[in-house]
Amino acid sequence: ASPASAARIVEYTFHVQNLTLNRLCSSHVITAVNGSLPGPIIHARDGDTVIIHVLNHSPYNLTIHWHGVFQMLSGWADGPDMVTQCPLRPGTRYTYRFKIIKQEGTLWWHAHISKLRATVYGAIIIRPKPGNSYPFPKPYREVPIVLGEWWNANVVDIDNEAIALGTGPNISDAYTINGLPGDLYPCSRHQMYKLKVKQGKTYLLRIINGAVENQLFYKIANHKMTVVAIDATYTNPYDTDVVAISPGQTVDVLLTADQPVGSYYMAARPYVPVVGLQFDNTTTRGVIVYDGAPSSSVPVMPVFPLFNDTPTAHKFFSNLTSLVSVRSWDPVPLKVDREMFVTVGMSVEACPPNTTCLGPFKGTRFSANLNNVTFVSPTGLSMLQAFYFKVGGVYTTDFPANPPIVYDYTNLAINNNVPMLFPQKGTKVTQLKFNSTVEMVLQNVATIGKDNHPMHLHGFNFYVLAQGFGNYNPATDQSKFNLFNPQVRNTVAVPFGGWAVIRFVANNPGVWFMHCHIEAHVPMGMATAFVVENGPTPETTLPPPPADLPTC
Ligand code: C2O
Ligand code: CU
Repeated sequence: ASPASAARIVEYTFHVQNLTLNRLCSSHVITAVNGSLPGPIIHARDGDTVIIHVLNHSPYNLTIHWHGVFQMLSGWADGPDMVTQCPLRPGTRYTYRFKIIKQEGTLWWHAHISKLRATVYGAIIIRPKPGNSYPFPKPYREVPIVLGEWWNANVVDIDNEAIALGTGPNISDAYTINGLPGDLYPCSRHQMYKLKVKQGKTYLLRIINGAVENQLFYKIANHKMTVVAIDATYTNPYDTDVVAISPGQTVDVLLTADQPVGSYYMAARPYVPVVGLQFDNTTTRGVIVYDGAPSSSVPVMPVFPLFNDTPTAHKFFSNLTSLVSVRSWDPVPLKVDREMFVTVGMSVEACPPNTTCLGPFKGTRFSANLNNVTFVSPTGLSMLQAFYFKVGGVYTTDFPANPPIVYDYTNLAINNNVPMLFPQKGTKVTQLKFNSTVEMVLQNVATIGKDNHPMHLHGFNFYVLAQGFGNYNPATDQSKFNLFNPQVRNTVAVPFGGWAVIRFVANNPGVWFMHCHIEAHVPMGMATAFVVENGPTPETTLPPPPADLPTC
């Protein structure tokens, strides 16, 4: 191979430090990377080795996760706090090393501890290997659109408070596009993202939902978009005038500047399944300005679906299909080794001693569970260390493959009385043989919280075989499986009152977190992990930890 086509090493240094920003009429000190919000963009090509030196100058414990990167045999670089590593304490450093293998498109990175990801995040852009090209016409320019959520208060403090009191998540003060709230917010007229376009040209927008608590609708006035990739996997081109995107997901769209010279808003605002749910109902917007547009031109605003327009969201989520003709495609495995049925829902737990909880019932606070188990984060040793060094007592391998009782999961009227409201606690995982295939039905449970839950799996992509509403029924719903070209994702929105079926191959030894990507639901326990055993050869065995792996 010529040097030009050889895989490269791309290296970055992340200084995680205080940053003072003016937002919403006052000045705030946040934790950010290299003095910008969002932080630096990681540019890599398929096949590259990525090395990121992280220096924690912040006052907080820190880890960073490379969301959607497979981390083949590099679980030590995955990042979730206490799952694959102990955090970097203030003043310490750690170098994350991993290879990009068979992935192209848009991913992102974010802090994976406390609520720091509200300000510690950025894009990862993975281009094809030299000699390979996009399976769509080459865009004139590529533009990251990183959607975020902003709090005026210190995000770590408000999170700790919310957890202790057992209230729901704290409502944010703004949504943002590339870190900027846009002119609908106070004092933000000049803090609006602006994209200049040339009429007739096509742009690749790499949209990332880095918002902390909400699914979003994203629109551009008067323009259609064509989806070409999601979660760094290619899709069949899908034309739409609205994008629905869950926290954790990415959507790459082609946008052709085919409208009269002028200016047009792009905007994002929440999609929530039930109005009345606690959420920030404000709108962030940026502006697309055509070359030659008079400075006096008044931008056109897109018309949004209602906040609770589930049919529109579901149409977008369920109509996407994979491009099977592309080099990265692997056919869906037809033989399943492990079937699981996992309920996803909110619950309550007793208030800890000497605390006043403000949860839903007297003396309780919110919790969350998967199959009636509330995940408890270990202390002292990470789960991956426990796996590698064979230390017992850090986790148990008894995560239930089915809920303890079968009931009418989507019947709101009865569910306030089911025993699922008081789950057991534990660090329970599912242990898998190397290369086994898992199929998981994720059933959203309508209990005290009426929310969609974007479930994210570390270490793997999964096929989304089917999605639907009501109680999942194998007798009728299995016939809806798309085994030919299902969408491939790392995060699936499990709809309120509905379900999704996913399948993946456990081809990567290590410990892989699975959790809701609504940040407030993680400390509440809406999480579990897969422990994948080593394969038969050195090439399928997790290597030892790097020497600089942080200790607890
Ligand atoms: Cu993007 Cu475990 O997270
Ligand atoms: Cu959730």
